[in-house]
Amino acid sequence: MTATAQRVEWTYTANLNERDFARLAEFIEQSCGIKMPPAKRCLVEGRLRKRLRDLGMDSFSDYCHYLFEQGGLIEEGVYLIDAITTNKTDFFREPKHFAHLIETVLPAFHPHRLEHPFRVWCAASSIGAEAYTVAIILDDYARSSRSFTFEIVGTDICTEVLEQSRDAIYPPTMIEMVPHKWRHRYFLRSIDTQKPTIRVCPEIRNAVQFGYLNLMDDRYPIEAEYFDVVFCRNILIYFDRPTQEIVLKKICRHLRPGGFLYIGHGESATGMSLPLTSVAPSVFRKG
Ligand SMILES: C[S@@+](CC[C@H](N)C(=O)[O-])C[C@H]1O[C@@H](n2cnc3c(N)ncnc32)[C@H](O)[C@@H]1O
Repeated sequence: MTATAQRVEWTYTANLNERDFARLAEFIEQSCGIKMPPAKRCLVEGRLRKRLRDLGMDSFSDYCHYLFEQGGLIEEGVYLIDAITTNKTDFFREPKHFAHLIETVLPAFHPHRLEHPFRVWCAASSIGAEAYTVAIILDDYARSSRSFTFEIVGTDICTEVLEQSRDAIYPPTMIEMVPHKWRHRYFLRSIDTQKPTIRVCPEIRNAVQFGYLNLMDDRYPIEAEYFDVVFCRNILIYFDRPTQEIVLKKICRHLRPGGFLYIGHGESATGMSLPLTSVAPSVFRKG
């Protein structure tokens, strides 16, 4: 071969047939609740192509054979779920919720009324932007409200995003919604001009604990009535309606009476039998 040898372009053309899609869809719906109608076949195919390539497999049939006939699911299940989940998020996404937290919830939970730290759970926290947004708000509040302390937990089913959450390194575009006064105080900037990144400062990183939790599990390993506030946003939309109601019922068990629940603006809990009162668009209070 010469230095000018022809470059070989490897393209990956594996296709996902209906039968294999149906098997994958059934597993995904059962294990993490995400609805997989036939229209999502292309999406699944696209998302799993790279995984097949990493495993050195030529076809989806080989992949499904490995998963469902050779016991591969035990090892591969977690990668499959990581590849399928949609992790879109941002700092201060759906900002009205954070305005509500600052203007209504925090004053209502004045520190003198708290015997314990103010506790927040971000269920389905993706790469951590939502939980860190809450941490920034609570840290700022604590600076002017002596004796106010807080705990924040972020959970997700996707192990990859949990790792990214702990690293807390993001593209600078993700903090465009963060008020200026907080950008300098709470974020560090990389000095790499080729690939600029920002990182959440250590104080805020240390204020949030991240862990694995599948909202489809029968029970969550959390004390009853533990949290003052739960964010469960932009995940219910991927579940069917009965599953949404089951998940919200379980979440309510861990919300203390008088506590607040935020769901995504595009999500609804109307008509569900839950111990909640609607107090603002996509904001509920436990009775
Ligand atoms: C679109 S993101 C929402 C992130 C954040 N809550 C927000 O609103 O910006 C949805 C997240 O739900 C997670 N997820 C999907 N199924 C789940 C399940 N069964 N249990 C827990 N998390 C799940 C995904 O991994 C993903 O990170």
